[in-house]
Amino acid sequence: MTSIDLDAYLELATSIAREAASIVADGAGRAREHVGTKSTLTDMVTEVDHASEELIVRRIREARPEDGIIGEEGSSREGTSGATWVIDPLDGTTNFLYGFPAFAVSIAVEVGGEAVVGVVHDVSRDEVFAAAKGRGATLDGRPIETSGKRDLETALVATGFGYAPERRRRQAALVAEVLPSVRDIRRAGSAALDLCWVACGRLDGYFEQGIQHWDWGAGTLIVAEAGGRTGWVAGDSELLELPVLVAAAAPLYEPLTDLLSQSCD
Ligand code: IPD
Ligand code: CA
Repeated sequence: MTSIDLDAYLELATSIAREAASIVADGAGRAREHVGTKSTLTDMVTEVDHASEELIVRRIREARPEDGIIGEEGSSREGTSGATWVIDPLDGTTNFLYGFPAFAVSIAVEVGGEAVVGVVHDVSRDEVFAAAKGRGATLDGRPIETSGKRDLETALVATGFGYAPERRRRQAALVAEVLPSVRDIRRAGSAALDLCWVACGRLDGYFEQGIQHWDWGAGTLIVAEAGGRTGWVAGDSELLELPVLVAAAAPLYEPLTDLLSQSCD
């Protein structure tokens, strides 16, 4: 992809995310209407998730009809251009329903399976996190960087939980292993924002098992472009049923992945 394309994709992703964020903000007052469930009773979806995804898909198809799409609410389609949009129209749906201020629109563009553009729009704070490959990461247009933390004992680490009870049992067991070794744990309820908060140093690290592509598509690029590291911890122990995504300030990445691997042995 040429640099001109990268600029155009970043601008397009940012403007689509802004428009979707305003749909989410407008829907906040009637959030508890028309709530359905997906994988389990705890996994909720609202008409706002659908309206946001519809808008995002419409805008992508108007501007880039040949691009592929992977969307949380089911609008995935193959493309022919080599570029694929990975979208979470409302990350943090439970928070949105409760008015707990941590929910966002997350949009990534991938080429050859690698993210080249990522935008996460925090609806409550109206903050825009963005990154383009090789260009660094920004918050509201200003460069951001990870905390530079290296010691686990003083690291503030976030995590998240899926919706299936069995998975949650494993996730809770992993948290029980990690908690005594770190400064503290946070569970804000939006993986996309957790990643952005690692990118700007509000958190030192983040891990979550069994996370979906649309949750991490934009945020992992934003962390990497802010100087952090991301990757996966996998293994064949019972606790590691699914790989664990890890994102952290670069010096903290290995201590955190070592701790997670040891906790699963
Ligand atoms: C969820 C949030 C949450 C994470 C879950 C995700 P959703 O996304 O990102 O923080 O722990 O794994 O499924 O369902 O609100 O879009
Ligand atoms: Ca999500």
